[in-house]
Amino acid sequence: MTKSFISAQRGFFPQPAYLIGAYDKEKIANFTLITWITFCSVEPPMLMFASRGKKLMRELVETTKQFSANLVTEEMKNMADYCGTTSGYKENKCAEFGIAYTTGSALDVPILEKSPWIYECKLVNMIEAGSGFIYVGQIEGIIFEDKIEETGYGKINMEDIKPLIYSPGSYYGIGSKIGSVGDSKH
Ligand SMILES: Cc1cc2nc3c(=O)[nH]c(=O)nc-3n(C[C@H](O)[C@H](O)[C@H](O)COP(=O)(O)O)c2cc1C
Repeated sequence: MTKSFISAQRGFFPQPAYLIGAYDKEKIANFTLITWITFCSVEPPMLMFASRGKKLMRELVETTKQFSANLVTEEMKNMADYCGTTSGYKENKCAEFGIAYTTGSALDVPILEKSPWIYECKLVNMIEAGSGFIYVGQIEGIIFEDKIEETGYGKINMEDIKPLIYSPGSYYGIGSKIGSVGDSKH
């Protein structure tokens, strides 16, 4: 395979999408689209996401020290796109777009009716990274849709959930399962 070189830049980076939810002091929910997000600790379970620039989500997460991370599915594409292209400082996104939510079980965070898999997180650290910050959340509980029968590690079939995949500038669905961890050993 021949290869070429380009200078340092963001480039191509396929990612899942999550809507980060937090309440303001009037208990109005705001949801913001994030794709720079991943697990970062098993014990205790933690996730982290990166954010930069002036965003209502950052202010609310830093003030309340808690947030929800709501998995975005293909069906939620337009809701997610709206929450990723609209500032919560300018619009009450849930009221304008008709986004339904309730409150979590472990923490006082808004959780999306439409999302099938939601982490409730306590903010435990913020790390400066170049032009932005990494927000580290300790997972205090997971809310999941009842149609998910088995929640154990590796038990969930992604084809049933249909998570939205983001590749800079575009949204994709997933294909079908092509293997399992350990395939290389057989
Ligand atoms: C596809 C997509 C992915 C995004 N991913 C991130 C991200 O990972 N981190 C981030 O800070 N902003 C990200 N954004 C931008 C925020 O979602 C956007 O600035 C949002 O309007 C901020 O809303 P807020 O002011 O209500 O928090 C993304 C936007 C889109 C459309």
